[in-house]
Amino acid sequence: MRPQTVNEAEVRAALAGKFGEAVRYAAEVLVEVSDALGNGELIEVETAHVSGVSYLTIGEWGIRFLENIAKMGARFKVLTTVNPMSFDLGGTISVDGKTREGQERIMSMLLSMGASTTFSCAPYDVVAAREWTAHAWAESSASAYINMFRNAMSDKLPGPLALLAGLTGWAPYTPLYTLEGRAPRVLIRLGKAELDPLTAGLLGREIGIMAGDRIPLLRGNVKFMNEESKREFAAAFSTYSASVFAVIEGVTPSWDKYLAVADLVEDVTVDTNEILGSVRNADPAASDAVLLGCPFLDVDSVLRVIDYIRRRYGDARARVPIYITTSRFVVEALGPLVKRMERQNVYITGDACLVVSPYAKRFRRIATDSVKAAFYLPKLHGIYVDLCRPTQCVDGAFS
Ligand code: F3S
Repeated sequence: MRPQTVNEAEVRAALAGKFGEAVRYAAEVLVEVSDALGNGELIEVETAHVSGVSYLTIGEWGIRFLENIAKMGARFKVLTTVNPMSFDLGGTISVDGKTREGQERIMSMLLSMGASTTFSCAPYDVVAAREWTAHAWAESSASAYINMFRNAMSDKLPGPLALLAGLTGWAPYTPLYTLEGRAPRVLIRLGKAELDPLTAGLLGREIGIMAGDRIPLLRGNVKFMNEESKREFAAAFSTYSASVFAVIEGVTPSWDKYLAVADLVEDVTVDTNEILGSVRNADPAASDAVLLGCPFLDVDSVLRVIDYIRRRYGDARARVPIYITTSRFVVEALGPLVKRMERQNVYITGDACLVVSPYAKRFRRIATDSVKAAFYLPKLHGIYVDLCRPTQCVDGAFS
C-alpha cells in the first residue's frame, strides 16, 4: 500500500550527474520540492502525465523551458503521457500561424523526449492506474479520476514538475501518497443521488468548494449513471478544490480502508435538488456552439451521443456546430463515423482541447455539460456558457 521510496544512493548519483544533465537538474528540483512540501523523500512512480501543453497556456516562456530541458538530452524514464493541444489533427479546430508554429514546437520537443503520442486529458483510457500504484500526473481532473475511481495514487503536480518526474521516475513523497494522508476529514451526506454528467459536475463543484483542502467522505446512495458522469465529477471537484481526492462510499475501491482511518471533524448534508437549481436559467438553444468532452470522452460516451442524434434527428444538420473532444485513439476507433457526423455539423476531434484553443474565440455563447469548461471558457475567452445535460445541449443545437 505504501509506494516504493527512492534509494538515497541513487538520488545522490543523480545529483552528481551520473545519469546526465537533464536527470541531475530534475533530481535537484524534485529534492527541493520534496523538502518544501513532503517529508524530504522521493517515491518511484509508474507513469507521469504532463499538463500545460497548449501554446495558449504556456506560450514562449513554456517553450523556452522545454527547449532548455531538451538541450540537456532529456529522455523520459517512465511512460509519460501529455495533455491536449490547441489544434486537432483532423484540421477542424484550426489556429493562426503563430499558435500553430508554437504548438508544433511544443509537440516535437515532447516527442523528442519520448512522450507517448497520447495528447489527452484522459490518460486513464490507456494507463490502467491500478489500485495503490503511484503516478505523477499534472492534469488535476485525471489525478482526481484515478484517485477516486481506481484508488491509484497521484498528487496534483504542476506541469513542469510532472515532466521532471517523467525524466526520473520519481515524485515528491507528499501525504496524498499515503493512506493516512488520504484520511477523510469532512463527512458529506448526500441521500439518494443518480448522477448524469451535468448533475455529477454540479455536485463535484459543490463538494469541492465545501471541502477546500480537506478530503471529503461522501455517504449516500450515490450512483454515477455512466462513465462520463465520473469524469465530470472528478473534473469539477478538482477545479474547485485544493485536493484531488474524495472517498465515495461504495464507489471508491477500498473505501472501507479510508473509513477506518477517517478523522471526521465536520458533518454536513447536501441537497442535490438545490444544486440543480443553479442552472435553471440556461438556454442551450441560444448558444452558437455545443461542447461535449471536457474531460475527453471515451468511445462509449461518444457513441451514446451519436446514437441520440441519429435516433432523434436522423440525418438532419445541426443549426450550430457540436464539438465532441476526445483522443486520437477514439477518433481512429470510430473510423468512417467521424466523417459521416461532420455532414450533420457534428465534429469529433482528436487530441485538441477547445477550452485552451484560440479557436474558441469565434463563439459568443457555448452550451456544455462540463462544469470545468464553464469555469474556464469565460475566464480565458470571455464566452458566456449555458450548462445543460448532454441531450439538452444537443437539442439546443438542433432547435
Ligand atoms: Fe481536458 Fe481541456 Fe477540459 S484539457 S479537462 S478538455 S479543459
